[in-house]
Amino acid sequence: MSKQRVVFRCQSCDGQAPQWAGRCPTCGAWNSLVEELQRAAGPAAGVRTGSAPLPIADVDASAAVARSTGVAELDRVLDGGMVSGSVTLLGGEPGIGKSTLLLQAAAGLTGGGAQVLYVSAEESAAQVRVRADRLGALRPKLWMVAESSLPAVLAAIDEVAPDVVVVDSIQTVHDPEVASSAGSVTQVRACAQAFVELAKQRGVTVVLVGHVTKDGSLAGPRTLEHLVDTVLSFEGDRHHALRFLRATKHRFGATHELGVFEMGESGLSVVDDAAGLFLADRRPEVSGSAVVPVLEGSRPLLVELQALAAPVANPTGSPHRSVQGVDRSRVDVVLAVLQQHVGIAVHQADVFVSVVGGVRLVEPGVDLGLALAIASAMSGEPLPPDLVALGEVGLGGEVRQVRHTDRRLVEAARLGFARAIVPRLAPEGPAGIDLIRVDSVGEAVAATGLSHVARQ
Ligand code: TYD
Ligand code: MG
Repeated sequence: MSKQRVVFRCQSCDGQAPQWAGRCPTCGAWNSLVEELQRAAGPAAGVRTGSAPLPIADVDASAAVARSTGVAELDRVLDGGMVSGSVTLLGGEPGIGKSTLLLQAAAGLTGGGAQVLYVSAEESAAQVRVRADRLGALRPKLWMVAESSLPAVLAAIDEVAPDVVVVDSIQTVHDPEVASSAGSVTQVRACAQAFVELAKQRGVTVVLVGHVTKDGSLAGPRTLEHLVDTVLSFEGDRHHALRFLRATKHRFGATHELGVFEMGESGLSVVDDAAGLFLADRRPEVSGSAVVPVLEGSRPLLVELQALAAPVANPTGSPHRSVQGVDRSRVDVVLAVLQQHVGIAVHQADVFVSVVGGVRLVEPGVDLGLALAIASAMSGEPLPPDLVALGEVGLGGEVRQVRHTDRRLVEAARLGFARAIVPRLAPEGPAGIDLIRVDSVGEAVAATGLSHVARQ
């Protein structure tokens, strides 16, 4: 047994302190330090044997070749597939489809010749088998074990000698040598560390499932994100069939691609026309709806933004803002611009904003669409049904260029939109779509023809 020493670890930022304090010396969180027994670093811990320095050109790069998972959208987000010896963390809310995705990927990886071990620390072997059956994932090279104790899991890995290990989930695996309850940050970290070492020492590809807590953080606050090579986030509205996969960290490629799936009877499938799928239930005659050609990664999508404005419910307090699918701070900027530069009295209204379909948009090109959706909601009049808008909005109310305007407009034209409000300096658009060039949000609102926008 290795020597142990006591440290105090912050459950919020993972910082360490040699002694207990009411406040974390690293991040300042109160009451977050928890005693932790730490194994003193033995000679082998974290040290890779045989890694002598080499001229960089002599380093063997073949180890970092990506292996296709057979799930095209997952490969797309991973920029090719999973790299041997890498550790990927798949985070998402319970019930979103993480186990489903990984079982499908596990089956796909066996198709490429890999031996895969699926470790279920949450569900029984029978439950996983029933699901695999339904997903068509019963493959000879796909092994499974229902175990939650770390030594037993490692023993199973020794026995099967897999190329890929899926651990579902990391929060339910526990190391009996660590004196901390299952699911605690200390346990999650210790177990994840063991899998990281396994991956680096034996070249096994490891995928860890991590449940995301209500506030959106992976339990074991951020700590796992430092340990692993790739962090994937699986999102969507559980009451809607669409699911979105995004990489927030990826050591082997770009992180900007968005994977789009549909959850159906036989698991997750590719969506045929991702660009237009968000517009299926659109009612263009209703006020507060604007369509924006967004670019998530290299894929243009046409997305409907909805806004609703109602007289303030609580006239003595600040007006209510509810935002879903876009960054709240973007909406705040757009509201302030509408108020200060366009003269729309948003301070007298409770405003609700949401993105249809459960997708979360992170790019700035949505700003102008947000502004127009809110202006339309404030006026009670719909925007023209064949109109799209794109541009970033600055604090001065100016409309700025966004990347790849051309590709977004091609997609908008393909889906039948005839007019686009764009920044003044936007490049020429494709045939079939008229460009309305504007410098400011005020000009854009004027160009939409909304007449009853409440003035201050
Ligand atoms: P699951 O993969 O178990 O989610 P997670 O591991 O993230 O908790 O999937 C959860 C939901 O997906 C469950 O409510 C049932 C649904 N589902 C389907 O609709 N079709 C399917 O083929 C499968 C396997 C699951
Ligand atoms: Mg699961």
